[in-house]
Amino acid sequence: MSSLTLQSPAKLNLYLKVINKRPDGYHNLTTLFERIDLADQIRFVANATGKIRIFCRHPQVPRGPKNLVYRVARLLQDRHGIKQGVDMHITKRIPVAAGLAGGSSNAATAIKGLNKIWGLKLTRRQMVDYAAQVGSDVAFFLYESSWALGTGRGERIRTLAIPARLWHVLVVPRIKMYSREVFTRLNLELTKKDDDVSILIHYLKKNSISMVGNLLFNDLQSSILQIRPPLALVKERLQTLGVQGVSFSGSGPAVFGLVASRTEANKFRALLKKRYAQVFVVRTL
Ligand code: C5P
Repeated sequence: MSSLTLQSPAKLNLYLKVINKRPDGYHNLTTLFERIDLADQIRFVANATGKIRIFCRHPQVPRGPKNLVYRVARLLQDRHGIKQGVDMHITKRIPVAAGLAGGSSNAATAIKGLNKIWGLKLTRRQMVDYAAQVGSDVAFFLYESSWALGTGRGERIRTLAIPARLWHVLVVPRIKMYSREVFTRLNLELTKKDDDVSILIHYLKKNSISMVGNLLFNDLQSSILQIRPPLALVKERLQTLGVQGVSFSGSGPAVFGLVASRTEANKFRALLKKRYAQVFVVRTL
C-alpha cells in the first residue's frame, strides 16, 4: 500500500480533574474523553526521496518539525530504519490550539497511516508508546472508541463501552490557548478534591442528559479565565440559551453546550452564529 486517506476526529473533555504536579512538570489528571464527528482528513502518500512533507492550506498549521505529524514520521523513520519518505496532505477542519486536540489527533492518525503505508506492523503497545512520546492527548485517538477515561498525563487510556451518543453546540472563539500556559497558572489548592467522574459515567450510561449536564467539569477553567476573562461571557451566553450543561474542552478556548437533540443544537447554532464566527453542531463519533 503506497497511499491512504484517513479521518482524524476531535475530542471533548466532559470531565477534567487535575490531581497533582509531577516532578517532570506534567500534571496527573483524570479525564473523560468523548470523540466527536468534527474531523480533519489526512492523505498519506509514500515517496522514495525519504523526505517528510506536509501540505496544508490552513495558515496556522506548521509544515515542519513543529507539527506533531512530522515528529511522528521522523520518530518512526529513525526507530524502524525507514528509507522512504511521506507526503501528508492535511485538510484542516478542527480549529487549531482550541482544546479540541486536533494536532494530537493528527499525530495518532499519522501513527496509524504510516504503520500501513510503510508496512511497519506495529503492535498496539508500540503505537501507544510512540503516542505518549509526542503528546499527552495522542493515545486516546489510537482506540476505536467513542469514550475513554484518561489518567496519568492523559496518555493512559481505558476505553469505556458507553452506548450514549450526545449532541453539542460548540463555540470556538478565535483565540489560541496554549496548554502549557494554562497549566502553569493552575492553583492546585483551588482544584477539585473529590472525584465525580464515576457518577458522571453512571448517568452517561443511563443517557440521563440533564444529570450529565450538571456534572460537566473542568479544573482548568479558572486558569483559562485568568488568561482570557471575557471567555466567561461565552459560557454565560450558552447557559442563557438553556443548554443542559456547558464547559470548556481541555485548556480552551472551545466551549461546548450539551443539548438534547440535533434540532436544539441547530437552533442554538443559528442564534450563536450572530455573535461568534466559529460555531459547530457536533455529535459523539
Ligand atoms: O503533552 P502535551 O505536549 O500535549 O502538553 C503540552 C503542555 O501542557 C506540556 O508541556 C505541559 O506544560 C502541559 N501539560 C501538563 N499536564 C498534562 C498535560 C499537559 O502540565 N497532563
